[in-house]
Amino acid sequence: MQILSPLSFNVKKPQIPPSFKPKSHQSNSNESSDYLIERGLKFQVGESFFRHESFTGRDLGVLAAAHYKRSNPELRVLDAMCGCGVRSLRYLAESGADYLLANDANDENRELIVGNLSQIPQFGVQGSKKWVVTHLDANRVMSECYLQKDFFDLIDVDSFGSDSSFLRSAFNAVKMDGLVYVTSTDGFSAGGHQPHNSLACYGAYIRPMPYPNELGLRMLIGGAVREACVMGYNVTPLFSYYSYHGPVFRVMLRVNRGRLSDMRHYGFVSYCHGCGNSQAFTWHELGKIFCSNCSAKPSSGSLVVSGPLWTGPLHDGAYLAELLELAQQWGWIGDGIGLDLEKLIKLMIGESDPELPFGYIKIDQIAKRAKVNSPPIRSLISTLQKEGYAVSRSHIVSNAIKTNCPMTTCVTIAKDHYNY
Ligand SMILES: C[S@@+](CC[C@H](N)C(=O)[O-])C[C@H]1O[C@@H](n2cnc3c(N)ncnc32)[C@H](O)[C@@H]1O
Ligand SMILES: [Zn+2]
Repeated sequence: MQILSPLSFNVKKPQIPPSFKPKSHQSNSNESSDYLIERGLKFQVGESFFRHESFTGRDLGVLAAAHYKRSNPELRVLDAMCGCGVRSLRYLAESGADYLLANDANDENRELIVGNLSQIPQFGVQGSKKWVVTHLDANRVMSECYLQKDFFDLIDVDSFGSDSSFLRSAFNAVKMDGLVYVTSTDGFSAGGHQPHNSLACYGAYIRPMPYPNELGLRMLIGGAVREACVMGYNVTPLFSYYSYHGPVFRVMLRVNRGRLSDMRHYGFVSYCHGCGNSQAFTWHELGKIFCSNCSAKPSSGSLVVSGPLWTGPLHDGAYLAELLELAQQWGWIGDGIGLDLEKLIKLMIGESDPELPFGYIKIDQIAKRAKVNSPPIRSLISTLQKEGYAVSRSHIVSNAIKTNCPMTTCVTIAKDHYNY
């Protein structure tokens, strides 16, 4: 019997209106107006805040929305901080959103947003509005939707800095089993340079550790887990994406009713500067934190502890495999546009192995401790796998691995195999 994956049904390419015929895949201009083209869609950015580099984050959001629509009767999207409206346009044209609310607090962007969205007919076949543009504070627009019981399937909050006040409003306004796409651009907090700020915003005291950008994602997910818990909900990260420009930390969360009963993945992490060992601790182990390798304690100064934050998987591998299949069906794989989406999603799938702990180890750090030249990453991965460890690359740092092999064992293996 042939088994078809759910994505084998109803394969539809994004519907691109005729007026969007692509001229190129990047920026473009003509004599009357400057415009950009992303995935074949034409739009203007005017004076609004727009980053071409956020392209991959938009691709992932659009894929997730289209994937959602395949198994749900409708797709209502709230783009709470839409800027020029490019992602609103993409949710309509590519994900097939049935209704989209594009909001940006800056009403000077109105003409621009309306101009960009006007390329999609504003009214559907039954005369109902397909898209609406507002200029309210994001918290207000989401709270008003909640009060009016006007719930959304996907809420995208493309915010700046570490403003986490949007989490609760977004969870209020999203449908159960719906998606919330959140952002942080606070690299200082992720790097442990503003522990009081990370504590205020995400409830996590973050100290400097050698995998700051993964901690940035975990801090954001942890903050969302906590906010969801307050409301009697639980959230699951479907994918977590770090991008160096900004930097930008983005996480797609699925929201469900029912408080998280198992706090296994919401806890503390430690890093030992002495031996390089990293460990996770549950709430039950508070007060018993020490380095299991060299016995250093936090009071020794060499053991740093951060948390509470998300210590579980950053992504759902099966879900990402479905997004990859969808990207392939849409011809987005190997098309040479932007970052290599296939490579990114495959790296994320590798990182989803539940055997892998938080953090990553830079190859240079292993080599430095082992006093050998840095081994080639592929060779080291294969050696560790032969030794029985789970290993993947990291989508965050190209010259690093994620592994359940402790640093001290990595060092021994490097000395044994790469001492030439
Ligand atoms: C990162 S930009 C959005 C970029 C856009 N999503 C994209 O993909 O190109 C953030 C936008 O949020 C708007 N903004 C800032 N604070 C806001 C708030 N409290 N409520 C609503 N919009 C806000 C800004 O005017 C800005 O256009
Ligand atoms: Zn140690």
